[in-house]
This record gives sequence, C-alpha cells and structure tokens, in this order.
Amino acid sequence: MMTVPAYAATRVAVVATGRALPARAWTNADLIAARGLDSTPDWIESRTGILQRHIVSDGESTFTLARDAARAALAKAGMPAHAVGVLVVATCTPDYTFPSVAALVHAALGLPATAAVLDINAACSGFVHALAVAEGLLAAHTLDYALVIGAESFSNLVDWTDRGTCVLFGDGAGAVLLKKEAVSSGRGLLAYSLGADGTLAPELTSTHGVAQGQRAGVVHMNGREVFRHAVRHMGDRAHADALLARAGATLADVDWLVPHQANIRILDAVAQDLAMPRDKVVITLDRHANTSAASIPLALDVAAEEGRLRPGHLLLLLAFGAGFVWSSAALRW
Ligand code: UT7
Repeated sequence: MMTVPAYAATRVAVVATGRALPARAWTNADLIAARGLDSTPDWIESRTGILQRHIVSDGESTFTLARDAARAALAKAGMPAHAVGVLVVATCTPDYTFPSVAALVHAALGLPATAAVLDINAACSGFVHALAVAEGLLAAHTLDYALVIGAESFSNLVDWTDRGTCVLFGDGAGAVLLKKEAVSSGRGLLAYSLGADGTLAPELTSTHGVAQGQRAGVVHMNGREVFRHAVRHMGDRAHADALLARAGATLADVDWLVPHQANIRILDAVAQDLAMPRDKVVITLDRHANTSAASIPLALDVAAEEGRLRPGHLLLLLAFGAGFVWSSAALRW
C-alpha cells in the first residue's frame, strides 16, 4: 500500500460542492417494469438499501452531469471558471474514449488554457484518488483552485438482463472546488491513502474494452467477492487508525464517515467494524444507488446542503472498487 503524507506548508481545502442528477428517477418498481426484470422492489430494498436511482435520458451524459455539477460548485463559491487551474474528472463511463470528459468540461466552462485538465479511472475509488491527484497538481501549479468531479452514467454500461448487477447502479455527478490554503487554517485534506490488488481485477470488470473489439462491454461482477473485499478494506480498523494518526486524530474524533455508496449492508458492516454509529454515516445510497466515482461527492454535496457538515468537522472518506482499488482520506471541513 502506498501512503502519502500531507504537504507541510499548504494543503487543499473544500470551498464548495455541487451536484447534478439526471431528470429521470426510477424507483425499484419503475426499474423492474421498464426493464422487465425478474425481481421485486422488496428484494432490491432489503438486499441493497436502494429505493431509487437517476438514469440519463437523451441529451444527458457523463459530460453534461460533470459540467452541471461543476457549475453548481462554482456558483456556490461565487468563483469564476477562469480561476480554476486544475480539473480532474474521475469516471469510468466517459462520453468518448477520447477526448476526456475533463476536456469537454474545460470547453463548456471556459477554463483557462493554462489549466491542467485530465480524467482518471480508479472505478468506484476514483473521487478520492482524484483528490490526491488534484492536490499534487495544485502544489506544483501557480493557480490556487481545482475542480474535482466524480461523474458517471453507469446505466450505459450495465447489462440490463443481469438482475444481480443492473439494479445496483445509478447515474450522477458530484463536484468539489478545492482551494490551496495555508496549513495554519486547519482545514482541508489532512492525509490520504491509496491501495490496490490488481490480481482481483476479474471479480469486477467490463466484459470488453476498446482494445478488445471496439466495444465498451457491460458490467460483470462477482457480487459476493466484491462485497467481502469492500468490507475488508473499507472496514479495516488498523488502516483507519493509521490514516487518522497522520491527521493527528482518532476514530473517536471523526464527525462523519462518508463511504462509497455501494450497498447498505456493506456500509453497516464497515460502520460496525469501525465502531461508528449509523447516525455518523452519510448515506445517500437510498436515493442515488451506486454511482461509482460520483457517489462520495454526491454524498458530500447532499450532507453539506442539509447542514450536516459544518466548519471544523472531521470527515473520513472511504472508497473501494474495481481493480480492486481502494482509497481513504481524512478531510477537515
Ligand atoms: O461499487 C462496488 C461494486 N459493487 C458492490 O459493492 C456490490 C457488492 N455486492 C453486493 O452488493 C451483493 O453481493 C449483491 C447486492 C450484488 C447481491 O446480494 P447477495 O445477498 O450477495 O445475493 P446473491 O448474489 O448471493 O444472490 C442471492 C439470490 C440468488 O438467487 P438463488 O441463487 O439463491 O436462487 C440471486 O439469483 O438472489 C438472487 N438475486 C435476485 N433476486 C431478485 C440476485 N439479484 C436479484 C434481484 N432480484 N435483483
């Protein structure tokens, strides 16, 4: 596992969040009816905690969601787009193989030509990985602001005949605007940790890719194995203790656990392993389903809007996904 210490002099802090969701929302019953699935609303709710998900329609895509989430974050901060020096989009469902979603957002928002603009793919861990990438780029950059976006349209990648996977995912985007601040502010990304075990890649994969016959493929998942490893890594107490120690904190100091929103049973198991009460866990899975790289920034935006995240609060972000790749971060709001 690679661990990276926070910078000594500056650190990046979240100054605003934003989100965008497709207009169309499908309840479990809507989904079952629309796709003719052999399932029940009760199975989906009881086995996953999902009540509904948003699904893109014509004119909506990973790019439009990313763009709109970014606009929302900039508007909340009252910041012009030309101040943004770094734009990182975490996605594994881009509109095109190239150009990147970030390049499309760059044009739509009118970011400066000097901006560092790229997509990254760390699947469901993408947002926390993107925070780490943006922090590094900001440190080496003359501008002070970065947009980090998690954006996905998994409805274009699921196998709608596979009831074991298609009920799990939803579409959406969340964005955060980061600002480089002096460490003395006390706010920001205090520490993070990234890890991977690529030998387990076949457990959660798309069936094809561009290099395998010019097809994107569909989601293939060994649900039970993914479940087991997700709990093992996100609920790793020793790892959480070590990460928080580098932030000068302990699990008892954490105000909010903000995990990747995969399955309520995974979240409950992780919270139990970390001895975190349910009311300290941000849960948006019920309304958004699993939106992969978008799930954590969507959860942040909802919790911020509801007034739950307050200045000075300590957040523990935990992500896990295909690869397997996992990441965690301690963030002072
Ligand atoms: O973001 C990271 C990626 N994904 C995840 O984190 C997902 C991790 N895995 C999971 O969340 C769970 O494994 C699932 C929700 C995918 C499945 O739940 P499970 O409790 O592990 O169910 P299962 O796969 O063991 O299947 C139990 C039964 C099976 O029927 P039989 O063989 O017992 O007759 C499935 O065919 O449930 C059946 N089943 C369904 N029944 C109704 C699977 N999907 C459905 C469905 N509706 N949608």
